[in-house]
Amino acid sequence: MQSERLKRLPPYLFAEIDAKKRAMREKGVDIIDLSIGDPDIPTPKHVIEAFCEGAHDARNHRYPPYNGTQEFREAAVSYLKETKGVDLDPNSEALTLIGSKEGIAHAPLAFLDPGDVVLIPSPGYPVYTTASLLSGCVPYEMPLKKENGFLPDLGSIPKDVLKKAKLIFLNYPNNPTAAVATKDFFKDAVDFAKGNGLVLCHDAAYIDIVYDGYKAPSILEVPGAKDVAVEFYSLSKTYNMTGWRLGFAAGNKGLIESLGKLKTNIDSSATAAVQHGGAVAMTSSQDCVVNACKTYKNRRDVLVEALNKKGWNVVKPKATFYVWVEIPTKEDSRSFASKILEKTGVVVTPGLGFGSAGEGFIRFSVSYPTERIEEAVHRISSL
Ligand code: MLT
Repeated sequence: MQSERLKRLPPYLFAEIDAKKRAMREKGVDIIDLSIGDPDIPTPKHVIEAFCEGAHDARNHRYPPYNGTQEFREAAVSYLKETKGVDLDPNSEALTLIGSKEGIAHAPLAFLDPGDVVLIPSPGYPVYTTASLLSGCVPYEMPLKKENGFLPDLGSIPKDVLKKAKLIFLNYPNNPTAAVATKDFFKDAVDFAKGNGLVLCHDAAYIDIVYDGYKAPSILEVPGAKDVAVEFYSLSKTYNMTGWRLGFAAGNKGLIESLGKLKTNIDSSATAAVQHGGAVAMTSSQDCVVNACKTYKNRRDVLVEALNKKGWNVVKPKATFYVWVEIPTKEDSRSFASKILEKTGVVVTPGLGFGSAGEGFIRFSVSYPTERIEEAVHRISSL
């Protein structure tokens, strides 16, 4: 049995890709998976040790506070102060999440009513659309075009759409395009949200995966952003903790309160020992993050340089562990990704999976071992 609501959702992009990978593996193909962004680098040792220490503490075997442990929320706020210069109150402006995906998926349900329009970047993280549909809202795709640096053209959104719009999702550094946004763009976005009565949800999952001296801003650095914005942080990508399920939301007090109220009715926060590990990750040396970025940068260079040698015209991204590649032939992204898989055993993500404006592109992730990326490059070179 399946609700009508659920029937309207496509299968989750990466679950669908998993099924294809399984089928190829069953045929004996040596699959090189460069599809999902899931760091192969282990979680830093000091974080694992903190988790183990937390797991041995019997106080952590009971329910954690609904809005997250005090230690974790304080660590989140101090990380934001330290890395972005943003001042927040740990008690009213930060909320533990069971991964940023959970917070993003619950945002439309917490903030909106059925029929409200949600402005969604296309291509974009599929959860923005599915969460909107699940809560009875109406997604409106804002195309991210190459000629605009993969930023949405906010001025081109029709007035009748804006009248019904209540929320805008943004995500920089961007998944899947790897584009970055300036603080000036964030200022325009905050003004736009204020001018149109929108909640601004900024997904900052990739904010710490940066290269070549680039530093990604938080939208909360914009004066007055807290009036309308909530930012979603993930420990998954920064500290190689995708399997731990830990993140936090930070920003507008009323939005944090609404999301927290919804969550008290649905879950009981992230495991306290996991929150202890996360708190230690955010408050200790960030050298592990710098070193992971060095590794991703080298892989990015290997991949981009090899694709360019093939004549594919790929730009080196300043952030994220994704490389967004325009398909050099007229093939659609699903056929092109399938061709790569069938001929080389390399799994890439078709751009269409991220929304209609992702058509014409494929995405590579460099969150896989360097030697596998080198092997993938070797196989693709002879395609
Ligand atoms: C991605 O590869 O786009 C993300 O890692 C997927 C996810 O977070 O579910």
